[in-house]
Amino acid sequence: VSETGSLSIIVLGASGDLAKKKTFPALFNLFHQGFLSPDEVHIFGYARSKITDEELRDKIRGYLVDEKNASVKSDALSKFLKLIKYVSGPYDSEEGFKRLDKAISEHEISKKTSEGSSRRLFYLALPPSVYPPVSKMIKAWCTNKSDLGGWTRIVVEKPFGKDLESAEQLSSQIGALFEEPQIYRIDHYLGKELVQNMLVLRFANRLFLPLWNRDNIANVQIVFREDFGTEGRGGYFDEYGIIRDIIQNHLLQVLCLVAMEKPISLKPEHIRDEKVKVLQSVIPIKDEEVVLGQYEGYRDDPTVPNDSNTPTFATTILRIDNERWEGVPFILKAGKAMSSKKADIRIQFKDVPGDIFKCQNQGRNEFVIRLQPSEAMYMKLTVKQPGLEMQTVQSELDLSYKQRYQGVSIPEAYERLILDTIRGDQQHFVRRDELKAAWEIFTPLLHRIDKGEVKSIPYKQGSRGPAEADQLLKKAGYMQTHGY
Ligand code: BG6
Repeated sequence: VSETGSLSIIVLGASGDLAKKKTFPALFNLFHQGFLSPDEVHIFGYARSKITDEELRDKIRGYLVDEKNASVKSDALSKFLKLIKYVSGPYDSEEGFKRLDKAISEHEISKKTSEGSSRRLFYLALPPSVYPPVSKMIKAWCTNKSDLGGWTRIVVEKPFGKDLESAEQLSSQIGALFEEPQIYRIDHYLGKELVQNMLVLRFANRLFLPLWNRDNIANVQIVFREDFGTEGRGGYFDEYGIIRDIIQNHLLQVLCLVAMEKPISLKPEHIRDEKVKVLQSVIPIKDEEVVLGQYEGYRDDPTVPNDSNTPTFATTILRIDNERWEGVPFILKAGKAMSSKKADIRIQFKDVPGDIFKCQNQGRNEFVIRLQPSEAMYMKLTVKQPGLEMQTVQSELDLSYKQRYQGVSIPEAYERLILDTIRGDQQHFVRRDELKAAWEIFTPLLHRIDKGEVKSIPYKQGSRGPAEADQLLKKAGYMQTHGY
């Protein structure tokens, strides 16, 4: 398949939040770095609002100017905006999608598609309820028609359903229209630098190979915290809750990379095969290994019912029943309106047997991978306190990215993932069977929560969440360490 010729990127839901905050800024950054050539690329926005090309460009400009791209030169911005065209229409209208197809075809002709292929990337920045009609319309009216090769791909965002049944239904509806290699299910955590580093870290370092198992690791924590609440997204959030919003997807994907076996190669299918095996080895979650919380003031949002039990915080322990991990708790924790904004992976090692220094109460070895902010990896070690006395102290071997890689800018997750969709690399996207296995883990618990059988405990905004969560960690064998 030739990879030259025209490339059309079609953002459906072009005036929505996701498009403005993530999709267009990522496209702009790719353009700015030379990954999207104006000789090949055209970007189309499609949405219901009846606005002009210029109005859409103005909206996008507003976002690009005041976000982190403030320093961007305005001529790059105007060149980028010139690539954008807008087509308005409903999400289930033949007529609208025919017009969209016509606009794309005109662009392809202008880019001399006859010399190459036609590549069409449809980015569904839309609520999942419209995925089925939109996919149908794309399939019927807008797929690539070039005889010279090329492709049609669609990119979808979570939430992919609300539980196993609805997710499978959605997968079947889309699967009836497009082949799996055409479907890119984004989980943006897979685009984060230190998440992408995980396999290199594990399989390119001899140091970790013999240690990465139940003989040496006491517990693993994967933690997400945000220091703000649901802020205007209460309506969406109340229907989903923190498990569906963060844990079932982002944290579970990270867990897969921490826990999976070495793939036979770096081919996307080999990597995803191993991730699926991890998910399939997780045993059912027990209610006593779950603590749910809801921050005080969450129900003040007018779109949230005042008897809502939806968790804005959860700690759940997952147990992987295989040779490598039996007995090791994987603690997944996520919360909104907490004391800080942070995401990290903490791998805590077991105590040293026969501890002649009697220093275990100072803390165990812990390997921390900080995903954000300030990407870093550090290893907590016990060392001799410098000086005349023989005293031990806990210290860190610290690889902080800002200091180590000065001047290197770390790409946004969406930039990297969109580039992968254009290049046809599905490694960092969720495969259908992976999604199914992820829902299988959480669906029974989610149904119990939805029925009110597991209750959310109130916690103060700006706190660590309910105290019961810390008690659960302790019970699971997590030992609080010193330092950071
Ligand atoms: C999204 C969730 O998927 O991830 C949001 O829907 C959350 O609730 C966001 O705020 C967090 O992403 P990041 O990249 O800021 O950690």
